[in-house]
Amino acid sequence: MSKTLTKFSIFLIIIIVFSCHSNTEKNPTKLSEPTPYDVKVDSLMGLMTLREKIGQTIMYSGGWTVTGPTVSSNNKKYIKEGNVGAMLNVYSVKGTRDLQKMAVEETRLGIPLLFGYDVIHGFRTIFPINLGLAASWDLEDIEKGSRIAAEEASAEGIHWTFAPMVDIGRDPRWGRISEGAGEDVYLGSEIAKAYVKGFQGDDLSKHNTILACAKHFVGYGAAQAGRDYHTVNMGEDELRNVYLPPFEAAVDVGVETFMTAFNELNGVPATGNKFIFRDILRDEWDFNGFVVTDYTAINELVPHGFAKDEKEATKLAIDAGIDMDMMSDANRLYLEALVNEGKVDIALIDDACRRILLTKYKLGLFDDPYRYCNEQREKEVIYKPEFLEAARKSAAMSSVLLKNDDKALPLDKNQTIALIGPLVKDKENIIGNWAAAGDRKGKAISVYQGVQEYLNKAKVIYAKGCEIEGDDDSGFQSAIKAARHADKVLMVVGEDYDMSGEAASRTNIKLPGRQTDLIKAIRKAVPNKKIVLILMNGRPLDLSEEVTLADAILETWFPGTSGGHGVADVLFGSYNPSGKLPVTFPRTLGQVPIYYNMKNTGRPIPPNNPKEDYKSNYIDIQNTPLFSFGHGLSYTNYDYSDFKLSTTTMGFSDTLTASISITNTGDYDGYEVVQLYVHDKVGSITRPVKELKGFKKVFLKKGESQTLSFNLTAEDLKYYNNEIFTVEPGEFEIAIKGSSEFDFEHTFTLE
Ligand code: GLC
Repeated sequence: MSKTLTKFSIFLIIIIVFSCHSNTEKNPTKLSEPTPYDVKVDSLMGLMTLREKIGQTIMYSGGWTVTGPTVSSNNKKYIKEGNVGAMLNVYSVKGTRDLQKMAVEETRLGIPLLFGYDVIHGFRTIFPINLGLAASWDLEDIEKGSRIAAEEASAEGIHWTFAPMVDIGRDPRWGRISEGAGEDVYLGSEIAKAYVKGFQGDDLSKHNTILACAKHFVGYGAAQAGRDYHTVNMGEDELRNVYLPPFEAAVDVGVETFMTAFNELNGVPATGNKFIFRDILRDEWDFNGFVVTDYTAINELVPHGFAKDEKEATKLAIDAGIDMDMMSDANRLYLEALVNEGKVDIALIDDACRRILLTKYKLGLFDDPYRYCNEQREKEVIYKPEFLEAARKSAAMSSVLLKNDDKALPLDKNQTIALIGPLVKDKENIIGNWAAAGDRKGKAISVYQGVQEYLNKAKVIYAKGCEIEGDDDSGFQSAIKAARHADKVLMVVGEDYDMSGEAASRTNIKLPGRQTDLIKAIRKAVPNKKIVLILMNGRPLDLSEEVTLADAILETWFPGTSGGHGVADVLFGSYNPSGKLPVTFPRTLGQVPIYYNMKNTGRPIPPNNPKEDYKSNYIDIQNTPLFSFGHGLSYTNYDYSDFKLSTTTMGFSDTLTASISITNTGDYDGYEVVQLYVHDKVGSITRPVKELKGFKKVFLKKGESQTLSFNLTAEDLKYYNNEIFTVEPGEFEIAIKGSSEFDFEHTFTLE
């Protein structure tokens, strides 16, 4: 019988089943509310064999190369067998359409594939790395950037991004701190929501929206010693007060998928962890999407020492509530046997398959499997000028002015500038790690190009000085010569892009190679000239030497495709820097972990006697960091005054309003990120010395004043005390500031 007839007869069956199917039948999947697709999914699942249902739970990698997806012949064979539900690392209209055709036209039921990819901070137009975007504290801009990423990715056949990464990161040794929103739970939760809304838009059935994926669930950023994939152990208070909330925030705005973390959590690897996936994600949060493992994570239950072999690992994963297997090949090899041996309940396979099919219906893939394969759109959407312009603005807003002595910045266009350092002309590292389909060979704008847009060539003297890594100082002399012939020195230094990101932990967080020596040599050669450091890096660095050598330091992270333009906009004052650190910069690695919202301990250092004995301090260095969470300078100054509280006694059902007057007292218009902090002075478990509970980014013209108000309810003060989520009566300190570096002056009482 011809394939067409088979297809036609199946189509008829679906129509018949569809028309007589009563939708009163209970969904086997524990979904809190019915969806418009339940009847269709039920009908389709009624036709599927066990093998075909398992096929939906399997994802393979297309191993993308520059010339196209190197999809293995095995993967193509599996697709034709109906043994594949999704592919990753395949993009472009042609690359995805060819495989989609196989799934839709060469399998018994023609169920379309999902195509997933790591669209982390842009697809073709690359935005600053996520730690940089977090430094903008600009939720609208973050949402806009991920919307642009979804426009480009969907134009090249992508349905699903493995983003946002919402892991709280407090350890600069950990390379993946670059991919998240830093150390704070409130900022991280707000940013998680912005990413999900940007990627998924308001209607997943539109062809320019893509599934988001909250990852890596959970606790990945707390890996011991900052070593990637390392053991994670924490109390439930830390888990629920710090690491879980950004994931719950993603669920609150409808994130469609989750990804498991590689790490174990308190002895149970995430990919086999019922507590986090069934008790918390499904039962407590009522998450209705599907869960995918991280790459080969099911197999890794064996080296974790949690499964005796990959077959047992397969059982443990589906029992824990994991719906899709990324690249372990475990579900294909073992799941059917496990069901037939009575070791895995087929209802679990039905649950997983249903969630995945529902998602494909939501994307409209059953209506039109090729709706993301439009060549015309692919040509029109990629690298749109307005996308590149948006990336330029994000780069400027992500930059953090850490130091600016004696107005070293902004630059004067009439001065001759020496541009020195290994990253001055860089067009490869500037787009950072996880740069998706970004171009590393020439598309990006280097700092050198950006500066030249402001200065004619005669005013720029370039010398590389040294490489990012290595011991070679043979370039020092030409760099010194350049510095001597210039009015001011700009040094663009930092890390290689693959010194952060996955499997890129460092035990030394100083500038690599001879870069610091180069800065010392320049400082010695031109002791009276201003030196401005421009940093490109994926983590907080130990800048304890550089801060004594440079007059100004601008942290630009890896600023993306339009990075050179955005950085130059800041350097020349077209954009007055407004970035604030989303993560603490330590004085030395020996202080790590160090973050602003630590606990007070029983022996805090008395502020009026920092040298007092037997206090919680070091004998060789002060407790404070080099640069604190929330720190970031401007070319202007902002005066905070007239702090007011609507009441100093707040009831549990009241709303307390805190307000501040803020005035731009300097010479530049600019944005200021105004931050609200509280301190719960006494709790049934100890509470952090400070907690960010709100922020507003406000634009003030020079001389302008505004009054900003923040509302606080008892709900905002809730926390987990190792037994319940609670909010307890007592005294709270409260402040509205421009960073976390302050002492409280005001209190209110909750009663
Ligand atoms: C990687 C990463 C994960 C990514 C996945 C697919 O190992 O841990 O963040 O989404 O594999 O590339």
